[in-house]
Amino acid sequence: CGIVAYVGHRDAAPLVLKGLKRLEYRGYDSAGLALLDVENPADAGLKVYKKKGKVVDLEHELAGKDLHAKIGIGHTRWATHGAPNDVNAHPHFSHDRKLAIIHNGIIENYATIKENLIRKGYIFRSETDSEVLIQFIEDIRKETGSSLEEAVRQALLEVVGAYAIVIISEEDPTQLIAARKGSPLVIGVGENEFFFASDATPIIEYTKDVVYLNDLEIAVVRAGELKVINLDNTQTTPYIQKVEMELEAIEKGGFEHFMLKEIFEQPRSIADSMRGRVRADDGHLQLGGLRDYLDQLASSKRIVIVGCGTSWHAGLVAEYIFEELARIPVEVEYASEFRYRNPIIAERDVVIAISQSGETADTLAAIELAKSKGATIFGVCNVVGSSIARATHAGAYTHAGPEIGVASTKAFTAQVTVLTLMAIAAAQKKGTISETLFRQLLAELERIPALVDKVLQNAEKVKEIAYIFTYAKNFIYLGRGLNFPVALEGALKLKEISYIHAEGYPAAEMKHGPIALIDEDMPVVVIATKDSSYEKVVSNIQEVKARKGRVIAVVTEGDTQIREMVDFVIEIPKVHDILMPLVSVIPLQLLSYYIAVMRGRNVDQPRNLAKSVTVE
Ligand code: G6P
Repeated sequence: CGIVAYVGHRDAAPLVLKGLKRLEYRGYDSAGLALLDVENPADAGLKVYKKKGKVVDLEHELAGKDLHAKIGIGHTRWATHGAPNDVNAHPHFSHDRKLAIIHNGIIENYATIKENLIRKGYIFRSETDSEVLIQFIEDIRKETGSSLEEAVRQALLEVVGAYAIVIISEEDPTQLIAARKGSPLVIGVGENEFFFASDATPIIEYTKDVVYLNDLEIAVVRAGELKVINLDNTQTTPYIQKVEMELEAIEKGGFEHFMLKEIFEQPRSIADSMRGRVRADDGHLQLGGLRDYLDQLASSKRIVIVGCGTSWHAGLVAEYIFEELARIPVEVEYASEFRYRNPIIAERDVVIAISQSGETADTLAAIELAKSKGATIFGVCNVVGSSIARATHAGAYTHAGPEIGVASTKAFTAQVTVLTLMAIAAAQKKGTISETLFRQLLAELERIPALVDKVLQNAEKVKEIAYIFTYAKNFIYLGRGLNFPVALEGALKLKEISYIHAEGYPAAEMKHGPIALIDEDMPVVVIATKDSSYEKVVSNIQEVKARKGRVIAVVTEGDTQIREMVDFVIEIPKVHDILMPLVSVIPLQLLSYYIAVMRGRNVDQPRNLAKSVTVE
């Protein structure tokens, strides 16, 4: 979910609404706003407006209303407790309507707290855990007569779960109280004004000075002053830092969708992820964040990679590369599975956690578990200062820039780039690759941005194919070796944004099941580039054609053999086998994008999904 709050000299309502739109990728099944206008005594009291649907639906609801206020809080929701509807949308009032809260995360022990409050006569309007929290705070205030700040602190001491919250009170129009545990919260510090948001994107057009709130900290803004305390009531000095994000990075810049913009940004985002790290001409490869840990990585006995969704797919690619180059056994696990087993972590095991957002709850929990078992954790994150980046011992950022489309594209290729660099660095350190291969890989890596650009030039061709298959009901994606995770990723992209059922499979495994699905209505995307498994993939294509499946093959430039066998080909340039996924995934991203657009889907905000899943 997304949080935005403001207190200062500007009009809060338009600012908060604009901020919510920037955060909408985090959740978009309902949205709401609370405002306090003290300049007009006739209009006294906190006002809450909320609506099922997207921020524009809320805006329609607000049209014509007097929204004058210099303080306000807003929220865009991805439902956990309670269905997405007007009532369950945030903000939530306290019982006496003098306080309102916006909340991300989950209060796990809400049921017990709620029962107690019901016994005391509190009435609940929604099914949410968030409403329980604000009524609980109200109750503590009433019972103890303490300040709001103290009541918030007392309440949070009792709470089990994860949260980022902001609270507004009718009693003080200069005051906002925020807190975080496990769910991100950034405070923008302007001149006599303060901003709160789930990430920096709603803030950067007003100020670049931000404070990242730490877990178990409470931030109180009152009468133009910011104070930060710990849950144990000790005061800390907020560390103000500059965000290095430019406004253009979070705007569409002429593209119809963020996803398309992000697909086309890949030559740059891949180059940025290598910048300063790779120089082929003098054989330079260095990842600053790993410098002190490279020995440990190279001498590890086993690598366990954890992640979710697309990041997990990047992990599968990395498995092949680490094993091939560095000869280190790798296991790739869904973070959500890993965390609920009793995983074996032995001495000299290393864990690599991959996460675009750096906030995925399951991945974070997997890290904590691995840490408690003594593992050294490396992070591969895209968001600087994110929870996962901070929870890991060392790591390397992917410099993909903000990714806003919910379906991950440029973050994936940046992850694969960085993981490849890690594997090459480990292999060189360990001596498992020759100097010649080392140099060759670096040189090939430097060519990747140009090769990706070349594939993008061919987007029109992919669009034509997408047009033909717009109304397909199912899709199968096949690949072998390094192209198998690419097949999984291609299928995931299509599912996510077009809602067409799609499955990725290792090409040879098809005959053990999916082959039963193949007939003239089944499009099969085969990644059939010229690599060591080329001949095998050719026979898999024959198996599909023999059953009348329609094949779209992603092939290496100049391939004539496959062209004769299949229905459509998409050519991509030749590249070293190890680096193939960086190029072969591009046409699959485009294919899913164009199909989704032609089906009239909301590409950037597909139904039911959220960009950053901070709940389990
Ligand atoms: C969500 C997103 C996916 C993403 C996954 C993991 O499901 O919709 O695109 O791959 O989370 O996110 P992370 O930020 O940890 O990479």
